[in-house]
Amino acid sequence: MKKFEGVVAVDHVSLTVDEGEIVGIIGPNGSGKTTTLNLINRLIDHDEGEIIFRGKSISRAKTHETALLGMGRTFQITRLFRNLTVMENTMVPVVDIDRSERQKRAIKWLKFVGLYHLRNELAQNLSGGQQKLLEIARTMVMEPVFLLMDEPFAGVHHSIVSRIIQVIEELRKEGRTFLIVSHDIHTIFGLCDRMIVMNEGKKIAEGDPDEIRRDREIIRVYLGV
Ligand SMILES: Nc1ncnc2c1ncn2[C@@H]1O[C@H](COP(=O)(O)OP(=O)(O)OP(=O)(O)O)[C@@H](O)[C@H]1O
Ligand SMILES: [Mg+2]
Repeated sequence: MKKFEGVVAVDHVSLTVDEGEIVGIIGPNGSGKTTTLNLINRLIDHDEGEIIFRGKSISRAKTHETALLGMGRTFQITRLFRNLTVMENTMVPVVDIDRSERQKRAIKWLKFVGLYHLRNELAQNLSGGQQKLLEIARTMVMEPVFLLMDEPFAGVHHSIVSRIIQVIEELRKEGRTFLIVSHDIHTIFGLCDRMIVMNEGKKIAEGDPDEIRRDREIIRVYLGV
């Protein structure tokens, strides 16, 4: 549970994500999706509740500790260093690994997401979709097992949407787990094993994409009709 000056942003939401799953969170603007991700990777403190990661409580962990434990995060508004190059951005994460290993990983993940040819370009010169891919590469340098993604398809050209889908599916094949917030209903329903629907800070539904699609109440809340 999380309150901001009296506003209950996340209201007793309980959710689990199993290893190897891709779980999606949808819900109207302001329904608490981003706050939920922020609570999970400890960017903000919760007022009540507990966060368990791989069998251990991380309720008091610092964000960087969650990263070291294997949580990766990408943001609704990408948090890149606009005046640094693509390569430099992937070198940023605070990891206890030496520079040459870090560089090796950066090259590997930039190639993986298809941005290696742009490694000397400034981040600000990338398209919206390329910036999303760069954030994914940057978090992958930490070799996370669980990725929290906030709106990975927002403001992304459709050709890059399919590239991002491919990246997520390949990473999942390697056994990684995903919790993805998205407004892109078509894409997220196609990608996820399970959907969680939020409204006004509460989890109002959960199920496989087909079940959720058939639920008229959810469609009413989500589409506002
Ligand atoms: N740092 C903050 N301080 C005060 N209120 C906040 C803060 N962060 C979020 N809120 C409020 O908490 C609620 C949930 O916000 P949140 O950003 O989690 O929603 P969201 O579902 O991600 O919305 P969107 O679809 O627009 O990204 C909103 O009422 C928002 O105004
Ligand atoms: Mg949000």
